[in-house]
Amino acid sequence: MIKKAIILCGGTGSRMFPATKTTNKQLLPVYDKPMFYYPLSLLMLIGIKNFLFIINKGQKENFLKSIGSATDLGINIEFKEQSKPNGLPEAFILGENFIGKDSVLMILGDNFFYGNMLSPLIKDSLSTKKGANIYLYPSKNTSAYGVVELKKNGEISKIVEKPIFTKSNLVITGMYTFDNNVIKYAKKLKPSKRGELEMVDLINIYKKKNNLNLIKLGRGSAWLDVGNYDDLFSASSFIKNIEDRQDYKIGCIEEIALNNKWINKHNIKNRIKFNNNSNYSKYLKGLI
Ligand code: TTP
Repeated sequence: MIKKAIILCGGTGSRMFPATKTTNKQLLPVYDKPMFYYPLSLLMLIGIKNFLFIINKGQKENFLKSIGSATDLGINIEFKEQSKPNGLPEAFILGENFIGKDSVLMILGDNFFYGNMLSPLIKDSLSTKKGANIYLYPSKNTSAYGVVELKKNGEISKIVEKPIFTKSNLVITGMYTFDNNVIKYAKKLKPSKRGELEMVDLINIYKKKNNLNLIKLGRGSAWLDVGNYDDLFSASSFIKNIEDRQDYKIGCIEEIALNNKWINKHNIKNRIKFNNNSNYSKYLKGLI
């Protein structure tokens, strides 16, 4: 069972300049919480308690302020600074000690996943012992992402990065699981033309070894890369609409920890203090 996850919270955030000149974009609000609360909450929902945050230089203090006490959330958080955005797979090199001899999940700190059947599906995939899992989503916007083309028999034909034309609509989302070989493979990667280590190259190593599993997220789920203003706005209004109608919060990390029995009322009270007299605190009061 995979028990560790890396949340990628570095990067340039150039699509969101000037707001991200002074702060990591994952700290920006998506409706009523910081962006990274959403990927974190999804992973807590599927039972992961050990996290490594990859962050930009000098940002640890801000992340600590934003998250508060990890103990009150029943989780462990480590931080590792990335000196510059050398690409996503560098996380496995920086995270070598954190990963140890285990398998690991990686999620991008600016990705929003939502859906009824999503967490059982992902939880199920955590038992994969060998190889890698990638999670695919049907999208119209294939030219912005890595795309998986399939053969008639459903096997992978090829993986193409940001294709101008493709018959496939299956894009690779920002969540992956890898067995322990990922550290070794990441170290072998060479920077691409844009000077970064590329996820597609890493995934292709697993594909070549016939060790790549595809997991399709159903059309009833939502996936948004909120690293640009349009999608950040869409995600914010999506979350607001659902929260207004249901009276439940999406991505409330305290609620998930409480339901998982990782924390108790005392911890929630600390979190109420931490969030002062916000609506978020009112919601936490309602939980106890
Ligand atoms: P991107 O959104 O692809 O890159 P970016 O954050 O630099 O943004 P922009 O394209 O607007 O300049 O990154 C995806 C996620 O991965 C995001 O959460 C930032 C993170 N990231 C790292 O942590 N380290 C890296 O080296 C890179 C490239 C991204």
